[in-house]
Order: sequence, then structure tokens, then C-alpha cells
Amino acid sequence: MAFLSSLSALILFTFCFFSPSTAQQPYVGLTTTDCPNQHNSSSGLGYFCNGRNRSCQTYLTFRSTPPYNTVSAISALFSVDPFEVSQFNNVSETSPFETDHLVFVPVNCSCSGQFYQANKPYTVKHGENYLIIANNTFQGLTTCQALLNQSVNPPAANISTNQIISVPLRCACPTKNQSDLGINYLVSYLVRQGDTFLIISQTFGVNADSVSEANDLPETLFPFTTLLIPLENPPSTRQTTEPPPPPPPPPTSPPTSSKSSKTWLYALLGALGGCAFLLVVGSIIYCRVIRKRKEKGDPILVSESFKAREKPEEKTMEESEDFLEHISDIAQSLKVYNFKELKLATDDFSASCWIKGSVYRGTINGDLAAIKKIDGDISKEINLLQKINHSNVIRLSGVSFNEGYWYLVYEYASNGPLSDWIFNNGKFLTWTQRIQIALDVATGLNYLHSFTNPSHVHKDIKSSSILLDSDFRAKIANFGLARSTQGESEGQFSLTKHIVGTIGYMAPEYMENGLVSPKLDVYAFGVLLLEMLTGKDVGVLYDENKHLSDAFSAVLKDEGQESLRDLMDPSMGENYPSEFVNFVVRIIESCLEKNPEARPHMDEIVQFLSRTLSNSLTWELSNNVSR
Ligand SMILES: *[C@@H]1O[C@H](CO)[C@@H](O)[C@H](O)[C@H]1NC(C)=O
Ligand SMILES: *[C@@H]1O[C@H](CO)[C@@H](O)[C@H](O)[C@H]1NC(C)=O
Ligand SMILES: *[C@@H]1O[C@H](CO)[C@@H](O)[C@H](O)[C@H]1NC(C)=O
Ligand SMILES: *[C@@H]1O[C@H](CO)[C@@H](O)[C@H](O)[C@H]1NC(C)=O
Ligand SMILES: *[C@@H]1O[C@H](CO)[C@@H](O)[C@H](O)[C@H]1NC(C)=O
Ligand SMILES: *[C@@H]1O[C@H](CO)[C@@H](O)[C@H](O)[C@H]1NC(C)=O
Ligand SMILES: *[C@@H]1O[C@H](CO)[C@@H](O)[C@H](O)[C@H]1NC(C)=O
Ligand SMILES: *[C@@H]1O[C@H](CO)[C@@H](O)[C@H](O)[C@H]1NC(C)=O
Repeated sequence: MAFLSSLSALILFTFCFFSPSTAQQPYVGLTTTDCPNQHNSSSGLGYFCNGRNRSCQTYLTFRSTPPYNTVSAISALFSVDPFEVSQFNNVSETSPFETDHLVFVPVNCSCSGQFYQANKPYTVKHGENYLIIANNTFQGLTTCQALLNQSVNPPAANISTNQIISVPLRCACPTKNQSDLGINYLVSYLVRQGDTFLIISQTFGVNADSVSEANDLPETLFPFTTLLIPLENPPSTRQTTEPPPPPPPPPTSPPTSSKSSKTWLYALLGALGGCAFLLVVGSIIYCRVIRKRKEKGDPILVSESFKAREKPEEKTMEESEDFLEHISDIAQSLKVYNFKELKLATDDFSASCWIKGSVYRGTINGDLAAIKKIDGDISKEINLLQKINHSNVIRLSGVSFNEGYWYLVYEYASNGPLSDWIFNNGKFLTWTQRIQIALDVATGLNYLHSFTNPSHVHKDIKSSSILLDSDFRAKIANFGLARSTQGESEGQFSLTKHIVGTIGYMAPEYMENGLVSPKLDVYAFGVLLLEMLTGKDVGVLYDENKHLSDAFSAVLKDEGQESLRDLMDPSMGENYPSEFVNFVVRIIESCLEKNPEARPHMDEIVQFLSRTLSNSLTWELSNNVSR
């Protein structure tokens, strides 16, 4: 703390004594809205390549706004590693940002022709044109002129939905003059309504004049434009977040009312979101892989985990290699790859092999594989997956280690995550496919709950944890949070204080009391089924003030059966057997029961869905529904 405040004082001090120098980059101003004209000389096309270096590491800012309000959504939009984003912004990968939160996105900026750019692929959404992509989706981080200039085949003013375009994001590297003054970064800051140089410079702890000078002394600032912030050090989330609310009282006694318990819970979630993630990622390596630290009873070892995080050098190569040998002993079926093999398989982890997040597509011995880079404990996932051989659970085939990261090699599911298919990017699943997928997931979960020894809870069932193979059969993946119920009293229930998971999918008893049981997965399965039926993201369905099943039953009660039609994913049109929809709705309702005991066992859901599937197949045949 003291160190940081003296550091910012130092930065402030440094900037106070800057001598005015000539402007470095022109401010884009209102040219962003003047699409038809290129504005060659006013940086409408981008910041000029006038820096000391032709490329540099820098940071863009972005204001979280649905649907881009989670680390994963923002990382996907900017094609950057979610792990890097979550680390840099000091948040967990799964907890959503508040709307309008200033998020930093690390990018590599380099000269492309006359202009600095960070080029990112983007799939055009329905109804978007260049102006909307530049101003609304990317919030001014690019301009319609730059997008148009980038297009290969003019006239390309009309772009089509699902077309993949390259988006040149506005970034810049310091000029020689700036470098000489100690400036190492020019952060592309997004101006918002009401911003002044004073406000912005205070946010970043720099001198207002230095910001103004770096941008050609603009007189007026306009929202949805970029302003370069000259910085010595990478920006810090500490600078840009308001002081946190006073800490919640320690949860020693059980909360009295459900309202206060919720308040407590959200506060805890907020406070622990990042910590819990870091705990998962960091501390277990420390405790289990290295096995030098004695076990502690209290699971909330926040400071411990931060220490673990700050000392990655303790995870030495040798120890990790020992661990590799150790796991290959237990897991005979698991191949230990030389990292060179994985580099070869993924073309050196090139962008063309990148799938999503930290997952790459590789070709090993002619077979496709998914290779996931992980900085954290993998022993649980390995211990679990090596015991499982089930067609509805993703198969782990190998592992590798390099420079502090683990690499897990999985079977390749060519149709990718279910979320890509239900939230409709021009992709579409038939009714019967949806039921088949639901049945596959239920079967996989039933296996985990009842046929592994000890039994397991997945704890992170959601549409992006379900992968689809070439035949649209589902495989459960993302076992990073899974845990066994071994050693728990009654074999089924346990308590935890690590609240980790995905908001909206987490069962109330888990969020409120940390109760872990297979019924968590049943709840999440209900949410998943609801998403599959409606084509709507849980983020949209979730209302933190209202339990999902209440909201859901209210809709059904108010509007009766007719409303079912309104609920259905419009991409299915009329092509679904309305007589079966009621049954599925009833499963959803029972899975979303507040009382975990009232939720069905996965086994019952499997039986139910198998009947629904066979009826649906009959319906499909007799109605000649095309797939
Ligand atoms: C750099 O600084 C020198 C003198 O301080 C000035 O003459 C020159 O124009 C500056 N260059 C740029 C690109 O601002
Ligand atoms: C900008 O460059 C384009 C293409 O070279 C040219 O057609 C246009 O006239 C230029 N506009 C200005 C204002 O210089
Ligand atoms: C920037 O480039 C370096 C080296 O090519 C790479 O390691 C790093 O991941 C890149 N960073 C981002 C944010 O793309
Ligand atoms: C840019 O986007 C914002 C918010 O998305 C909107 O309020 C504003 O009107 C847009 N500006 C233009 C010129 O379209
Ligand atoms: C892009 O801008 C540059 C610089 O003004 C210009 O020379 C080039 O012709 C433009 N390209 C397109 C496709 O508009
Ligand atoms: C642009 O749209 C028009 C109709 O809106 C269409 O006729 C034309 O082919 C499109 N041009 C391109 C290059 O796609
Ligand atoms: C420019 O490149 C040099 C050497 O390649 C490096 O030491 C320096 O940090 C770079 N400067 C910036 C601002 O990135
Ligand atoms: C990260 O967030 C936690 C609380 O969520 C806070 O205690 C910690 O100081 C933050 N770290 C940094 C570097 O901002």
C-alpha cells in the first residue's frame, strides 16, 4: 500500500515537472461520426506510426456493458487470453463486471502502413454496419473510416451478418520525445460523457497537461473517442476503481433474514470473487503440487493465496517435472507430451490454431486435439478425468508442462461449445438435437454423481462447459471446479466457503450457505435446459432479486400455456412438438426448486429425457422435420 501510494506520488511528481513539448498524436474528435470522409490528417484512420518503436505492448480500455460484461465475453470480443484479462483487472474469470466498469485490455500494438493498430477478428452481428461496430460495439476504439479503409474489396460499405472482418483498434506507442521523458505506455482511454482533462488525469494519477499535450491539445472532448494517456507504468485497477465499500461483518452467526443473507452473500462474492479464483488457480499448486506447505484447516486463506500468486518462482521446473512423473504414474492412460510436440501440433500456438480463451486446436499424429493452457492446479481434474471413460464426458489424453503453465490435451469436439449454438450466431439446433444434448448432459452428470467412486459434483455446469462433437453429441468439459463428495458426512453434503462458479447457474443453497451436493449440478442443469429452450443467456434470465424459479413460474402462471410459445427460442420457428414442451418445462421447474431436496435425482431426469427423445424422434419422422 505504502509502496503504491509513494509510487503514484512519484508518477504525479514526475509529470508535474514535465516541460511542455509539441503534440504527439492528433485527437480524433468528431471525425468519428463523419463516416464518408477519411480524414487522413486528423487520425480518423488511426494514430500515426511516429513512435520510437514500431510495436509495443499497451492497454486499451473498455466499459463493461451487457453482453460484454464478463471477462470471458470481453476477452472473446478482443481475442485475448481471459486469464490475462482477469489477472490484470484483478477479478475472477467468472464474476461479471458492474455495468460501466472500466476494464483494461492488454494488446500488442504495431504499425500497419502509416498507422498503429491492434487488429482483431470480429464476426458481424445482425443489423450492424461499420458505424455501429466502431461506435457502439467497440465504443470508439476504432472508427468507421478505419474499418472501411481496412476492407479488402471496396465497395464494401455493406457488410453481411456473420462476415468476419478485421477490426483495427486505436493504439499507439510512445514517441522518442515521450520515451525520453520516461513514458512507456500510451493507454487508449475511452472518453465518457462529462469527462474533463482534470477528471481523467486524476483517475490515472498523471498531470492534466501531459494528457492534453499527448493528444494535440483538444478543446472539447467527445464521448466514444479515444484519448491517449501517457504512463510510466502499466495502468492499475487500483487507480480506476472507487474505494471499496466497508467490509461485511464476518459471517460467524447465521444470517437472520434471507435479505440480509443475500446482501452478505453478494458482498462476500464481490470481495472473494477474485480471491476464490486465485485460490483455485494459485494456492493449490502451492499446497499440493509442491507439497511443502503444511495443510491448513481454514479454507479462506486469502492472504496465503496471494502470497502463492506472487511467488511463482517457487514452482520450479524440477518440481513440476517430478509432478509430471508422479501423475503419469497414477494415470497410465495419460500421455506426457514434450512441449515441443505441442508447439508443433499448434503451429507454435499461432492465432490460426486459437479456439477460445486459452484453448488451441492441435494436430497430433493426424488427429485433432484441444490443448488448454492452465496456470493452476490440475491434479484434481487429472485425478478425476483419468478415472472416467464415458462418452458424455470429455476425454483427457495427455498433459505437458512449460514455463510455469500446464497444458492439458483433450479429445477434440469439432462443433465447439453449446453456448455458441444456443445463443445463435447464425447457428441453430433442432428440437430433437436439443433434447439429445440435454439427455447426453444428464447422462454424463448421472454418471459423475452415481457411478464414480467417490461420487463427484461438477460445480460449473453451464452452456460453455458443454462441448459438441461432429454428431452434435454432448460432452461435459471444464472440470476445474469439480470435487468429490468423499469423506463428507452422509456422503452427499458438505460445506465450503469458496464460493466459485458462474452467477445465475449457482444454486441458492450454495450461494447462501456454501452447501455442496449433486443437487447443485441438478440446479445448473435446470438453468441450462431453460437456456436451451429459450435461446436466452442466463445473464438475461437472471435477476438477483428474484429466484429464477419464481420468475419462471410467474411467467407461466400469469400467462398460462400460451406463454410457452413466447418462451421458445424463436430460431426453432414452429418446428417443435408443443405437446412435449410442457414436460420439459416441468423438468426445468423441478430442477430450479429452492429446496435442494425437492429437486429430482439426475437418474430420473435421464429416464424422463430418454422418453422425450424417443417421442421426439417419432414426431420428427412423422412430421418430416428437416434437420
Ligand atoms: C521532440 O522535442 C523536440 C525538442 O524538445 C522538438 O523540437 C520536436 O519537435 C519534438 N518532436 C515531436 C515529434 O514532438
Ligand atoms: C485521404 O486519402 C484518400 C485516399 O488516398 C484520398 O482519396 C482523399 O482525398 C484524402 N483526403 C484528404 C482530406 O486528404
Ligand atoms: C503480444 O505478443 C507477445 C509475443 O508475440 C505474446 O507473447 C503476447 O501474448 C501478446 N500479447 C497479447 C495481449 O496479445
Ligand atoms: C455511439 O454509441 C452510443 C452508445 O452506444 C450512442 O449513444 C451514440 O448515439 C452513438 N453515436 C453515434 C454517432 O452513432
Ligand atoms: C486507406 O488509407 C490510406 C491512407 O490515407 C490510403 O492511401 C488508402 O488508399 C486507403 N485504402 C482504402 C481501401 O480506402
Ligand atoms: C450491397 O448491397 C446491395 C443491396 O443492398 C447489393 O445489391 C450489393 O450486391 C451489395 N454489395 C456487396 C459488395 O455486397
Ligand atoms: C523499444 O524497444 C527497445 C528495444 O527493442 C526496448 O528496450 C524499449 O523498451 C521499447 N520501448 C517501448 C516504449 O516499448
Ligand atoms: C485485488 O482485489 C482484492 C479484493 O477483491 C483487493 O484486496 C486487492 O488489493 C486487489 N489487488 C490489486 C493489486 O488491486
